[in-house]
Amino acid sequence: MKTLLGIDLGTSATKTVLFDEDLKPLASASVEYPMDQPHNGWAEQNPEDWWNAAVETIGAVLRQSGVSADSVAALGISGQMHGLVMLDANGRVLRPSIIWCDQRTSAECADMTERLGAARLVEITANPALTGFTASKILWVKKHQPEIYAQCRHILLPKDYLRYMLTGDFATEVSDASGMQLLDVPKRRWSEEVLQKLDIDPSLLAKVYESPEVTGTVSAEAARVTGLSKKTVVVGGAGDNAAAAVGTGVVEDGRAFTTIGTSGVVFAHTDNVSIDPKGRVHTFCCAVPGAWHVMGVTQAAGLSLKWFREQFCTEYSYRQIDEVAARVPVGANRLLYLPYLMGERTPHLDADCRGVFFGLSGMHTKADILRAVLEGVVYSLRDCIEVLRGMGVQTSEMLACGGGGTSALWRQMLADVFNCPVRTVDAEQGPALGAAVLAGVGAGLYSSVQDACAKFIRYNAPQGPINTAAYEPYYTLYTELYPSLRAHFSRLASL
Ligand code: XUL
Repeated sequence: MKTLLGIDLGTSATKTVLFDEDLKPLASASVEYPMDQPHNGWAEQNPEDWWNAAVETIGAVLRQSGVSADSVAALGISGQMHGLVMLDANGRVLRPSIIWCDQRTSAECADMTERLGAARLVEITANPALTGFTASKILWVKKHQPEIYAQCRHILLPKDYLRYMLTGDFATEVSDASGMQLLDVPKRRWSEEVLQKLDIDPSLLAKVYESPEVTGTVSAEAARVTGLSKKTVVVGGAGDNAAAAVGTGVVEDGRAFTTIGTSGVVFAHTDNVSIDPKGRVHTFCCAVPGAWHVMGVTQAAGLSLKWFREQFCTEYSYRQIDEVAARVPVGANRLLYLPYLMGERTPHLDADCRGVFFGLSGMHTKADILRAVLEGVVYSLRDCIEVLRGMGVQTSEMLACGGGGTSALWRQMLADVFNCPVRTVDAEQGPALGAAVLAGVGAGLYSSVQDACAKFIRYNAPQGPINTAAYEPYYTLYTELYPSLRAHFSRLASL
């Protein structure tokens, strides 16, 4: 029997799953790590924590499953996108990784737009300059920590750092590389023009592959520490959202999913490059060779609930939160939440905005506030789907995934507020499953990503909308709050 390994380097934890050839999970393990927020709007993690979590979880799934290391034909890695990992000439990590939700780089984004021109930047990278993306983080280090930049010889994305530790190769793939803002997204290769205008040496960057391509094999040293075999091949893998698309079978036109993980994402596959001229949603290469996707991003989706629970109600499990919030009526007794804890991307592209509870009353209980948090995240995802619908994306059905997708209450809110049926995949492994599919294609077990998905991905029955009309006035009010607060957010940020 051949097996496949999927590793998903998330923001809150790394999850590793071992699958058999029919993509049935044999064993799974996950290890959590912290996110440091040294200043308001900053977010960093230690690449060493990711590697330790990968080593621990790989060892755990091999032990639990009892399969021989030689059975693992291939492994795929998926990961949080955009994070900046800088290595010196000896492959040592130079500073903590500045990760996707960090918002410190507004000045560098303005600088990028000036150097390239707003229209040309969108033409090449398919997105406007964004604080979340890697290029502005590189410019920030260059400006504020020149002594570190001078020692930097390799720039990698989070999952590609794991690949380096596993294989010794400096490699990436198109889906994750799209989020660096250094890739020519329509042409699927590094942009000489962007690199030259931003004065970034191309030799710092890794070689770009398509997601199912083999990029190397497990090194002797990595085999020793993880228990893997040197025969196991490593494929490109994908950014977490592109990998989740494969894991949910969203690999052809007309298919879409919503993730509620730390971030929230509404994602639609597209066989042709399609760009929102206002840049409110991202266009990236997807993990299906030769195809793309468009997606809207809510910075703090699951993060909003995790933050609220950790600060104010650790006595509740996530299941209990669902139970108490389900007893509160739609509209949370006239309380609205704007989930802008880490600024917001879709549709506002604003690094300075922050979270808001609107309408707090002396009668509100923790349950009302929890319901408002769940609803606010869904309103912000509705903002994403509105932009996609405006671009002509068909959303007659939505797949739900991520930790939040396991909540029946959150899924029902999605069905109601999106006004379309929502269903889940009959598997809980999300991006790790997608990464394993890509590994299987790379190892030659499956003929293509689409064929593997058609054969192995199964769906649960849909949940239809029940209460759409009741949410509408709250959503309309929600959309009116940001414009009236925008100037105040930026004043607060300047204090
Ligand atoms: C996508 C994004 C997040 C991260 C973390 O653009 O920033 O979804 O990939 O999950």
